[in-house]
Amino acid sequence: MSKKVYRVRAKYLDNEGRGVVSFNQSMIPVPGLLPGELAQIELYRKKNETLGRIVSLVETSPERNTDMCPYAGRCGGCQLWHMSYKEQLRFKQSQVESLMGKYCKIPETIGMDVPLCYRHKIHATLGRDSRGRIISGIYEEKSHKLMDMEQCRIQDSIGDEIMSTVRAAMKKLGIAPYDEDSRRGLLRHVLIKTGYRTGQIMVVFVLSSLKFPQGKALCGQLLKKFPNIRTIVYNLNAGKTSMVLGDEEKVVYGEGYIEDELCGLKFRISPKSFYQVNPEQTEKLYMKAVEMAGFSKTDRVLDTYCGIGTITLLVSRYVNHVTGVELGADAVDNARENAKMNNISNVRFVRRDATRFMEETAAQLAGSGRPSVTGKRSGKNKSNAIDFTDKSYYNVVIMDPPRSGSTSAFLKALVKMSPEKVVYISCNPVTQKRDMEELIKAGYRVRAVQPVDMFPMTSGIENIVLLSKL
Ligand SMILES: C[S@@+](CC[C@H](N)C(=O)[O-])C[C@H]1O[C@@H](n2cnc3c(N)ncnc32)[C@H](O)[C@@H]1O
Repeated sequence: MSKKVYRVRAKYLDNEGRGVVSFNQSMIPVPGLLPGELAQIELYRKKNETLGRIVSLVETSPERNTDMCPYAGRCGGCQLWHMSYKEQLRFKQSQVESLMGKYCKIPETIGMDVPLCYRHKIHATLGRDSRGRIISGIYEEKSHKLMDMEQCRIQDSIGDEIMSTVRAAMKKLGIAPYDEDSRRGLLRHVLIKTGYRTGQIMVVFVLSSLKFPQGKALCGQLLKKFPNIRTIVYNLNAGKTSMVLGDEEKVVYGEGYIEDELCGLKFRISPKSFYQVNPEQTEKLYMKAVEMAGFSKTDRVLDTYCGIGTITLLVSRYVNHVTGVELGADAVDNARENAKMNNISNVRFVRRDATRFMEETAAQLAGSGRPSVTGKRSGKNKSNAIDFTDKSYYNVVIMDPPRSGSTSAFLKALVKMSPEKVVYISCNPVTQKRDMEELIKAGYRVRAVQPVDMFPMTSGIENIVLLSKL
């Protein structure tokens, strides 16, 4: 039986960038529809939500992007492809405005000149289609159905070429893609990282077993065709998990890392270490954060959730000292090596859970009797002189946590440490606002906000907030 079709007009965009239509006294999100557009839609349920699916567009908006990606709408990667880039930036800005506009004026979102081919971390899952052909791609929007994808226009195009070679070689060499249901097959995912300035390439084969008899031939073919491949790593992931990488890995070619350059600094990147996916925008993000912070040569800075030390090392140029704190062992190893490679000595890196580090530092500070930045003193030490060798003293804290944001205990410890300034970078302004409101309750004020578009075509938003007490 054919589904009922309704004629509706979109009123506004919801926070995922979906056009919202009024229907039978409910507001229904319709992915791919723009405000003002008239469409014929049918209704469907997905993950406990009623959504509209466009059957046909009757009237289109001038903000519709006509240069469509063939996978748009099905692919779970890009939610905003149908929107002109100008409109995407406006949408992102309005999201930040509605969350943080009451605290300060939100400047224009910093966008890209060419918002394509920007992802330098490429992840492809392997599988078979209904005819048994080997395919690679990503899962369809909010589903576990693998979509065959020969080209992704937001990724560095070398990734598509590598994946095409991998698929052909798998067929020729008889390498079976891993099947999550039967738990048979070998090759599960391919992770490719490419250097923005250096062009160096890392290929990680995620396997259900490190015994990979055809591996040598596959690597040989890749190395012959792509001379910029600097390292190839096998990663073992045989678990029933949505995580891409497992713990165990084996470097089969090169050193197990690639190098890239950002803001005039060199960085070593390992398979498991975090590195921003859009390096072109990362430079703008970092330089904007530095400008907003207004560092001085006497500042002692704590860079929490520091990854491979990109922000730590950049900030070290402008201040007295920076301590970087990061949980990932490989990232901390990279960060220490990166400091050496760039001849930077006014930094240190601590491998620790950021919350634990903050709690320990706040406790040390309270016990030291040293004045906090706000001038309050405790204990025996009544001197106002700042001891720059004191590891518990930081007058600026940078935080750049994962999407879930920071923890309440982290924020409580931060308030006890009482730094003059907090620079909060986040890829999720919703959790950022939640955390920032804890600091506002404790006396901090929002001094500036700056959205930066790190993820064109997607609904992702990166945002910098500067808070201070003074
Ligand atoms: C959004 S990334 C930012 C990294 C870095 N600031 C950058 O720009 O490349 C967040 C980092 O936090 C780290 N991380 C996650 N949970 C953590 C925790 N509880 N304590 C410390 N670091 C953590 C992750 O490994 C990751 O490197």
